[in-house]
Formats: sequence, C-alpha cells, structure tokens
Amino acid sequence: MRKCLHLAEKGEHFVGLNPLVGSVLVKDGEIIAEGYHAGYGLPHAERDLLQKLPDSMDYSGCTLVVNLEPCNHFGKTPPCTNIIISKQIPQVVIGALDPNPLVSGKGRERLLAHGIKVVTGVLPEDCIQLNRQFYTRMIHQRSYCIAKWAATTDGYIGNQSSQRLIISGEEAQQHLHVLRSRVDAILVGVNTWEKDKPRLDSRILDSDVESSESWNSIRIILDPNLRGNYSSESIDRVFSPIWILNGEIEETKKSERGNDVKFIKLPENWIWKELLSMLYQNNIGSVLVEGGSTTLKELIASGCVDEYIEYRNTALRIGGGLEAPDFPNDWQQQQLLGRDLLRVYKVPISSDLYQ
Ligand SMILES: NC(=O)c1ccc[n+]([C@@H]2O[C@H](COP(=O)([O-])OP(=O)(O)OC[C@H]3O[C@@H](n4cnc5c(N)ncnc54)[C@H](OP(=O)(O)O)[C@@H]3O)[C@@H](O)[C@H]2O)c1
Repeated sequence: MRKCLHLAEKGEHFVGLNPLVGSVLVKDGEIIAEGYHAGYGLPHAERDLLQKLPDSMDYSGCTLVVNLEPCNHFGKTPPCTNIIISKQIPQVVIGALDPNPLVSGKGRERLLAHGIKVVTGVLPEDCIQLNRQFYTRMIHQRSYCIAKWAATTDGYIGNQSSQRLIISGEEAQQHLHVLRSRVDAILVGVNTWEKDKPRLDSRILDSDVESSESWNSIRIILDPNLRGNYSSESIDRVFSPIWILNGEIEETKKSERGNDVKFIKLPENWIWKELLSMLYQNNIGSVLVEGGSTTLKELIASGCVDEYIEYRNTALRIGGGLEAPDFPNDWQQQQLLGRDLLRVYKVPISSDLYQ
C-alpha cells in the first residue's frame, strides 16, 4: 500500500479534481506490475496497470492493491471493476473506500459478488491524508479551503494605517508562492484588494517546481457591495483570470490586456458553504483565502476551513492593529522559515467511515 501511495503521488498537479491513485500487482510476495492515474481523463491506476500486461497473463495467485476503492461507474473511462473481473484477479486489497456517497462501497460489493476476495482498510489514514482535498470535496460538496495569514510576534496581521504592512521575510514568501501555485484560486476581501493591492500570483524561484507548477491561479475578490477598483491598471498587473464575487452584477468580459474578468452575483444572505459550493461547481477544487481580517474571521466562524497556515514573524512587534485569528492549538507542523515560524493545521478527516 505504501508503494501505491508513492505511485499515486506522481499524478499530483495533473489529475484535476480526480483523486491520486496508485496500484500494484503482487504475486508470491513480489510486486510484478505497477500503475497510477497520470492525469485527468487518462486511465485509472488499476486499468493503467492491467492494460500494460499481456492478454495471455495468468492472474491466479495474484493480489491487486490500490489506495482507493475501484470505481464501478462510467465516467471519462469505463468502470475499473469491469477490467478486474474480466482478468479474473482472485484478490483485491483496498486502502480506503470512495468517499462519494453515491458510489461508496459499490465497487467493493461488485467485486465480492463476482467471488473476488476483498480486504479493505489498509493504511486508511495515509490513504485519506493523501487525497484529503478529494475526500473533503466529496464529503462537503464544496472546494477545499485553506485559510492563511502572516502575523507579527505580538499577533497582528495588519495596522490601522492606510499603508500596507510587510510582515513575512523572503523564505516565507517563497513558501507562500509555492502554495499559491498549488491551489486553483486565491481569494481576498475587497479591503485587502484596495489597500494592499496584492498581485495574487506565484513567483517561484525553485527551478524544480517552476517547470511543472509555476502558473497563476484564478484571483477572486469578495466584494459584496462592489466597492473595489477593477480598472485595467489594477487587474492587468498580472496575467490570470479574476472573479469578482459581488451582490450586484453578473457579467463576463476581457480586460484591456486580455484577462478574463467575471463578475459573479452572490445570492442575498449568502453563506460561506454556499460560496465554496458555487466555486466547486465552477471547477475550483481548492481555494486559498489570504485575508484580510474580516474575511478570515467570518470564514473561520463558518466552520468551512480545512487547513490553517500561519507565518508568524518572530522579530516584529507593532503594539496594536488588526488581530490575527486564533490558530488551532494542536497544529501538526511547525518549521522556521528564516525569521518566520510556519505553522500548519489540517482538520482531521475520520477514516472510520471509509474502511
Ligand atoms: N497579514 C496578512 O496575512 C494579511 C493578509 C491580507 C490582509 N491583511 C490586512 O488586513 C486588512 C484588511 O482587512 P479587513 O478586515 O479590513 O478587510 P478584508 O477582509 O480584506 O475585506 C473586508 C470586506 O470584504 C467583504 N466581506 C468579507 N467577508 C465577508 C462576509 N463574510 N460577508 C460579507 N462581506 C464580507 C466586506 O465588504 P463590505 O464592507 O463591502 O460588505 C468587508 O468589509 C488590511 O490592513 C490588510 O493589510 C493582512
């Protein structure tokens, strides 16, 4: 199963809203074939593995291992259960069941109905952790949501003046830019858009990352009363689409330099869950909410945050200003990036339901 998880990771950044899945075929305690889901629309891991083997292959004594339950429905590709049954594979080991309530357990049932021995719940926490964004989207039917902020040593994310306060150092900025390149969208409240004039792009120096990931996510501004400045000078500093969530107009156009500009009308009395579901329906699998204070506090109060990230400067005190949100006490990761302390907390997903 660990090998499956490593193989699955190869699909990262290419599978879109699909899960990361790896698969191995074992005979006499040896791995004799490997496969993984390499990209959206491409074969699933089990099919990738099996279609590489000769038609004459004898599967007696073989076990197919896969980190996610084989699918039993037609999507972009035929059901994986079909090919497993047709190859007469005697045993299948599944890391965790599919979280989609419409399909969960159905793949396993079909395999069992064809006399295949099925073992489920092998390293389920690791399997769910690897696909935590996919599980979250399926369970809550909304985008995966990361709340991120930078805070001073004494716990402020901004000052009361009209000037932008730079809190993070170079290393933390680099870390943030990699993070930005890994999400589908970056959202800020209108006051932050106006005061900080953030570019909301990814400027990555790491050459390893640059080749595959240096791209700009969709910029989203939360502006219920349409107070922001969306002139070409403000939008066209960066080349990436911009969506303005507002309470007044619905309109799609091109900016002077060709950026896609979408004004999306929010329903009256919208709530965060609804907003994130709307983003998910628009193919936004993950969204990074970067502030400011009001936006973060309202989002956290809604219970829709799946991951918290804080960069806390260890050497900057400002004595007052906009207070940082409370960070969960039981954060799982802590790391010093130059003079900034990075802390990460991922909201646990129970594996009990998926075994
Ligand atoms: N250190 C950091 O990481 C960081 C990051 C970003 C920003 N900041 C700082 O934060 C400050 C700005 O924060 P802020 O609190 O003034 O503004 P903000 O969160 O950027 O924007 C707040 C506005 O967005 C709209 N909004 C946000 N959440 C909403 C909700 N749930 N429902 C309805 N409307 C919502 C409202 O617009 P309407 O008033 O029109 O309804 C609200 O006034 C700046 O000083 C900036 O420098 C710091």
